[in-house]
Amino acid sequence: MFLLLCAMKEEVSDIIRKVEVSEKYTILNMDYYRGNFGGAEVLVGQTGVGKVMSAMITQKLSDLFKPEAIIFSGIAGAINPLLDIGDIVVSADCLQHDFDASSLGFKIGEIPYTGLRIIESDRALFEKAMTFKAEGIKVVKGRILTGDQFISKASEEKKKILKVDLEGDAVEMEGASVAFTAYMNNIPFLLIRVISDRADGNAPHDFKKFLKRSSLLLSGMVFHILQKQRN
Ligand code: ADE
Repeated sequence: MFLLLCAMKEEVSDIIRKVEVSEKYTILNMDYYRGNFGGAEVLVGQTGVGKVMSAMITQKLSDLFKPEAIIFSGIAGAINPLLDIGDIVVSADCLQHDFDASSLGFKIGEIPYTGLRIIESDRALFEKAMTFKAEGIKVVKGRILTGDQFISKASEEKKKILKVDLEGDAVEMEGASVAFTAYMNNIPFLLIRVISDRADGNAPHDFKKFLKRSSLLLSGMVFHILQKQRN
């Protein structure tokens, strides 16, 4: 079974609409749907926003359903100036930009005393995602940065960390926490993000405007990956 997760219901709604549902579960007050999508058996639903909620839900669902892979998708703010709203970033890797024990000598994003910092996506799933095509939309390989912050008017110092030090392409609030959970459970993982805003002063407005549109693109991408998986 493939576990298909998004943070928010607006992001996941089009996948849920298209799944041939065989079973519904309510777990920790959230609804999950099991069924067929793109020729694969899937469980689909939301994690809620932020690192804690997303990691907790991913662990719970992994324990209950033992998925063969996890695909997390949703929207993100662009850090890379070459990205436009609507473009898709397929995560080559991801890390937590707000994990900072640097005063103890650790790198930004490094989880102290574990050596864990950057988590790579599953190569086979990544390659399949990169073959997705949609008119007028760039599909690019990138690094996703995750933190418990909606980035709108970041300070120059924060921008430098995101862009230059961490070499991020997009910023969001769940990817690396889900990636870490998958990694710790030995489950192949892929992270996909559609750009909703430029993580600037217009970000709150652009984010809300794009949110509803994101679902169709995300479901198209995930459907494509699952179909490729079958062949
Ligand atoms: N998700 C979408 N846009 C975002 C932003 N600017 N910051 C954090 N998460 C986001």
